Amino acid sequence: MNLNNQPITFRPLGTQNQIPYELLLLADPSKDRIDAYLPKSDIYIAAEKEQTVGVILLFPLNNETIEIKSIAVKPAFQGKGIGSYLLKNAIKIATLKKQKSICIGTANSSTGPLYLYQKPGFKITAIKSYFFIKNYPEPIYENGLQAKDMLILTKAL
Ligand code: ACO
Repeated sequence: MNLNNQPITFRPLGTQNQIPYELLLLADPSKDRIDAYLPKSDIYIAAEKEQTVGVILLFPLNNETIEIKSIAVKPAFQGKGIGSYLLKNAIKIATLKKQKSICIGTANSSTGPLYLYQKPGFKITAIKSYFFIKNYPEPIYENGLQAKDMLILTKAL
């Protein structure tokens, strides 16, 4: 995709690139949890020249399903289509890997992401009640709402 006449590329994070923790922490405030799923995830980035502006982590949940563990865009680059671009490419990768579905979990309070995922066809398929209360030491608030439940959204491929 292009942004202000600059190409934004989608690619695996190279070994020479640093892990973009500042972005991953936007999607999940727990560094311990990130460090638990990161080694088993494929890391892809959206980059403008050498600058990482977005990240998406793809985790093999089982033989049939890839879970998007994290998606985040640098604040100055949000609202310009990069989140949708990351999602579109993740769906393409899961399809090429002959997966049956791709899923993502997000909080009841994450209104923006809930919209973003439903647009390309993800559908709410499960609810993990009180996930954010049970698994995070501090209460999380977004958009004036407490993050309590995790909603699982799935797209059949
Ligand atoms: N509120 C309302 N609408 C939103 C929001 C929001 N916060 N974020 C995106 N949208 C809408 C856009 O208006 C756009 O709508 P349109 O296609 O009708 O024009 C659509 O969603 C796509 O927007 P993009 O510009 O592609 O999204 P963006 O590049 O801003 O990335 C993201 C979205 C990744 C959620 C970004 O805002 C972000 O990094 N947020 C912080 C991290 C985060 O919350 N990540 C998700 C946590 S859950 C998880 O990672 C598994």
